Amino acid sequence: MFKGKVVIVTGAGNGIGKSIAKKFSEMDAIVCVTDINVDSAKKTSIECKNKSFYFKLDVTNKNEVKKTFNEISTITGNYHILIANAGVSTMNTIENLSEDEWDHNFNVNTKGVFLTNQEAIVQFKKNKIEGRIVNTASLAAKVGAPLLSHYSASKFAVIGFTQSAARETAKYGIRINAVCPGFVKTSMQDREIEWESKIRSMTKNEVLEEYIAQTPLGRLEKPEDVAKVVLFLAGSDSDFMTGQAINVTGGVYMT
Ligand SMILES: NC(=O)c1ccc[n+]([C@@H]2O[C@H](COP(=O)([O-])OP(=O)(O)OC[C@H]3O[C@@H](n4cnc5c(N)ncnc54)[C@H](O)[C@@H]3O)[C@@H](O)[C@H]2O)c1
Repeated sequence: MFKGKVVIVTGAGNGIGKSIAKKFSEMDAIVCVTDINVDSAKKTSIECKNKSFYFKLDVTNKNEVKKTFNEISTITGNYHILIANAGVSTMNTIENLSEDEWDHNFNVNTKGVFLTNQEAIVQFKKNKIEGRIVNTASLAAKVGAPLLSHYSASKFAVIGFTQSAARETAKYGIRINAVCPGFVKTSMQDREIEWESKIRSMTKNEVLEEYIAQTPLGRLEKPEDVAKVVLFLAGSDSDFMTGQAINVTGGVYMT
């Protein structure tokens, strides 16, 4: 389905990004696996079924984004799809939230999406490529969440950016959508369960059970649940969709 397509995935060393990279590779795409942690990017690349490349990329660094995306163009000819997935979280009450936490979440989750989308859009327009972009937002981009005010705000911004960029670029045939995962079993979730259990004086298991109890489909989400929808949004079956933010939450959030 993606034969001949070159796909850049950010934050693809772990979790959801890794699953997305591997699924594209199974569908014959040439995947450029990027992550701030180059060792994890390399591991994902090794696990890819089809030809792939890996790069160290910190999405908060404009020069690095430009340099890496140019290098990808040189090596592959051109890229066609960007999956802006890299993201971070911390958990805290508003009273205890530090400026550093706020800035870190916005730098990676929001500025990282802006910088990578900007570079891809420039390239798509220059080369007349009807490119596709999928940005990773969150359930917390649709509804606020306690202990995640900063994260939630940074992800609401991703949807605002996605809608604006989609409106600006639709006339060039570029489509930009977002995906909103729920409670996905990844290293990010492990860290969040640890923090939340401490802040709320609960056991980790109690926190986990709350996540599942909030999910009508009755289980934790898997990275593959998200990857399948990302591939749909990047593929031709969604040709008439742009500016959407699709919930993939097992029904936690329904509008
Ligand atoms: N896990 C969840 O429950 C959940 C829910 C909703 C949305 N999300 C979003 O999904 C995306 C992936 O999350 P995950 O759960 O797989 O997290 P994860 O922590 O398992 O993986 C995130 C990856 O991003 C990389 N990364 C961190 N900072 C980076 C930077 N500055 N530049 C490039 N790469 C960087 C990390 O090295 C890591 O490999 C994030 O945007 C996250 O906010 C996750």
